Amino acid sequence: MRIIQISDTHLSPGKAHFADNWAPLAGWIAEQRPQLVIHTGDVTVDGADVEEDLGYTVGLMRGLGVRFRAVPGNHDVGDAGHGRQPLTEDRLQRWRAHFGPDRWVEDVEDCRLIGFDAMLLGSGEHKETQQAEWLEAVMHDAGDRRIAWFLHRPLFLDNPDEGDTGYWSVKPQPRAGLLNLTRRHSVALVASGHLHRAHDFVRDGTRYIWAPSSAFLVGPRMKAPPMPGENRLGAVVYEIAGRRIEADIVSVPGLSRHWIDDVAEEVYPSRPAK
Ligand SMILES: [Fe+2]
Ligand SMILES: [Fe+2]
Repeated sequence: MRIIQISDTHLSPGKAHFADNWAPLAGWIAEQRPQLVIHTGDVTVDGADVEEDLGYTVGLMRGLGVRFRAVPGNHDVGDAGHGRQPLTEDRLQRWRAHFGPDRWVEDVEDCRLIGFDAMLLGSGEHKETQQAEWLEAVMHDAGDRRIAWFLHRPLFLDNPDEGDTGYWSVKPQPRAGLLNLTRRHSVALVASGHLHRAHDFVRDGTRYIWAPSSAFLVGPRMKAPPMPGENRLGAVVYEIAGRRIEADIVSVPGLSRHWIDDVAEEVYPSRPAK
């Protein structure tokens, strides 16, 4: 079974800065003939505040003509503890109304794919506890299946013991709980987005894939901390057969190499925190 992971499309009817990359991406997906498309978040430019972004982008996703699953990114539902755009129940409900649940299970061959909401992590919301219990349960019920996780934000940048990297990776406390789960259930794969970088590595028996964005690259003016991986656009192709999971980060022909640095103030104007 072939599955395509796309990430960080950052699309909006009102802000079309990266819109030209959708048609080549959609055309390429059609050629690949996947049975499932997984979007690992930041589907929208600003679905957290602009509901129209969610309605518009889910229409584009449906237009692919392939079944899809998605997990939300910070620009879709806000972020735990964010000063101006915190994750809230209202924002999550808007996401669910358009994209369906923010966590899900897909059993594929002898593997179990689990998507969950990284934006809840560290929020202290009741929903975070519910998600943690749900995750334990679906891992436990996986039986002999190999397990793969899909979430927006990576668990860590350089190593599992690193401190708080701020915006860029999951906070140390929720990270510790998740890493503990990966060890207990020998999670085969953790696939994420958010960083707009491509990276494929194995750590403690788990393979980590950072899916590149198909919208834009992040340059030096955005002041990201040093991190591994490659600054490139693209997507990820998975082939799953029995318990085998093959993964390839690939280029998608025809994508324009936009840089967020050039348009950051237009797309994401800095507003004072309230
Ligand atoms: Fe993004
Ligand atoms: Fe993000």
